[in-house]
Amino acid sequence: MTGATLREVLPDAEALARRGAEFVLQTCQQASGDLRVCLAGGTTPKRMYELLATPEFAPRMPWARVHWFWGDERFVPQEDPSNNYRNTRIAMFGPAAVPVTHIHPVRTVGTTPDQAATEYERLLQSAYGSATLDPARPLFDVVLLGFGDDGHCASLFPGTAVLSERRRWAAAVVGVKPEPRITLTYPTLESARHLVVLGAGAGKHEVLQRIQRGDDLPIAHVRPVGTLHWFLDRAAAEGA
Ligand code: 6PG
Repeated sequence: MTGATLREVLPDAEALARRGAEFVLQTCQQASGDLRVCLAGGTTPKRMYELLATPEFAPRMPWARVHWFWGDERFVPQEDPSNNYRNTRIAMFGPAAVPVTHIHPVRTVGTTPDQAATEYERLLQSAYGSATLDPARPLFDVVLLGFGDDGHCASLFPGTAVLSERRRWAAAVVGVKPEPRITLTYPTLESARHLVVLGAGAGKHEVLQRIQRGDDLPIAHVRPVGTLHWFLDRAAAEGA
C-alpha cells in the first residue's frame, strides 16, 4: 500500500527550507501523541533545521512529543564536521533546547559499523514496540531524504548490496565512501506516513532528469507506505 506522490517547486533554496520547516511543523502539530521524525544528513536540510529553531517556528513546535532519528550517519566521532548528528545539533537542537532524551543519534565510537547498525535497529524496534513493521502503523511520521548526484539517498548507494536488504532495519555500508556509513534500509525509510525528498540547486537538475527518465537510481525506488513529497527549488527542477 503506498500513498500519493506530490511535487512542489519553490522559487529558491530559502523558500524550499521554509516549506520544509512548515511541513514538519504542521505534521507535528496535527498528530497526537509521540512522533518520530527521521532526519536527512548532508547540506540541503541545514537551513530548514535552522528555521525550526527560530522564534518564528520553535515556540510552535511540540518538542516534548517529537523524537528525532537519522536516515544515515557517517561513522565518525560526533565532533567530526561531517557527522550528521553534530550538524543537526548545531543547526537545530542546541538553539531550540530540544530534550536530549528525544534525540537518538547513531553510536559511532567504541563500536564497529556493523554493531552500530544492529544497535540502531534495536533502538528503532524498541521505540516502535515491535520488530515487525506494519504498513498500517508507520514507524515514522516524517522521513526526510536528500539525494546525491549519483541518485543515492541516505547511504543507499547505487550498486550496493544494501539496496536489496529487506530484513534488517539498518546496515553498515563500508568501502563506498572514505568513512563507513550506517544507513536505514528501504523498508525502514519507507515506513513513513510522509516521506519528503528535498532537492536544491542546479547541481541536482541532471540527476532529477535521470530520475524522471526512469533511470535505476536508489532515490527513484523509494515507495513510502504513506505520501511521497518532492520539495525542489527552481534551480534543481529547471536547471537555471
Ligand atoms: C548524507 C545524506 C545523503 C545526502 C545526499 C545529499 O549523510 O550525506 O544522508 O544521503 O542526503 O548526499 O547531500 P546534500 O544535501 O549535501 O546535497
